[in-house]
Amino acid sequence: MTHVIVTGASSGIGRALVREYIGAGAAVTAVARRAALLQELVDELGSAVHPVVADLSDPAQATAWLPAAVAACGPVDVLVNNAGVQIVARTIDVSIAQMRALFEVDLLTPLALIQAVLPEMLARDRGAIVNLASVAALAPTPGMTHYSGAKAGLGAASEVLRGELRDTGVTVVTVYPGPVDTPMARAAYDIVPPTAAVKLLPEGVPAVLAHRIRRAVERRRARIIYPWVYTLTRHTPAITRFMMDRFTPLPPPRAPAA
Ligand SMILES: NC(=O)c1ccc[n+]([C@@H]2O[C@H](COP(=O)([O-])OP(=O)(O)OC[C@H]3O[C@@H](n4cnc5c(N)ncnc54)[C@H](OP(=O)(O)O)[C@@H]3O)[C@@H](O)[C@H]2O)c1
Repeated sequence: MTHVIVTGASSGIGRALVREYIGAGAAVTAVARRAALLQELVDELGSAVHPVVADLSDPAQATAWLPAAVAACGPVDVLVNNAGVQIVARTIDVSIAQMRALFEVDLLTPLALIQAVLPEMLARDRGAIVNLASVAALAPTPGMTHYSGAKAGLGAASEVLRGELRDTGVTVVTVYPGPVDTPMARAAYDIVPPTAAVKLLPEGVPAVLAHRIRRAVERRRARIIYPWVYTLTRHTPAITRFMMDRFTPLPPPRAPAA
């Protein structure tokens, strides 16, 4: 049975990925902090879901669960680095602790998990690594300094890893979601409501993206940019930069301490 690891499985795109891969007959190691939400997936989808409760912002927990997951479900066929956190705030209002936690979850743990699964994938000459970057990697976004930096780092690492592994059976898919209807996107809109222009653009659906990710792995595609309209950011980087710097609405400054 194919063994798929999905980090950030308790919500949004990750939860949709668990449903997608279980529907395709895989065994899924589902990783997140909220045990109750992972248990809901087990109750809904059955014993092919293997819940793992881990805090991926803690380097000591980032990969420690992996040997047990391999013992339970076999060698990893697909690693989906999906877990992510977003901070929508002015840079000056972000604490160093918040910044470090974001970089652990969004960049360093994904890279550590890649290091951990790659030797066995190369030994078997098969496997897939999927990295959830963001359109914020292609169009770094004012008000999301650290998120954009981490996602740009993950996107770049993912793209070059694909090239490095070109002569092997291991494939790498980089995913650049634009707005997709999940708790993360809704939380961002609570802080900076979408502009009239953004409201005109399509918003992605987690289940649709999950299906596209599974298909992209099967077809060994290099990347997904979803919804499609956001591919423009990749093809017009100078115009995109100008627009982002000039027109992106900013989060409100934090209220001064009383
Ligand atoms: N939705 C969008 O518009 C959008 C756009 C671009 C990119 N993305 C990327 O797509 C991925 C999925 O996002 P989403 O929209 O589905 O977000 P979401 O609904 O907020 O889900 C985030 C997932 O990450 C997990 N997570 C967060 N911090 C964690 C930690 N310290 N340890 C373990 N797991 C942690 C959460 O689980 P627990 O809280 O239970 O730990 C949750 O399952 C992220 O990488 C995000 O950056 C999303």
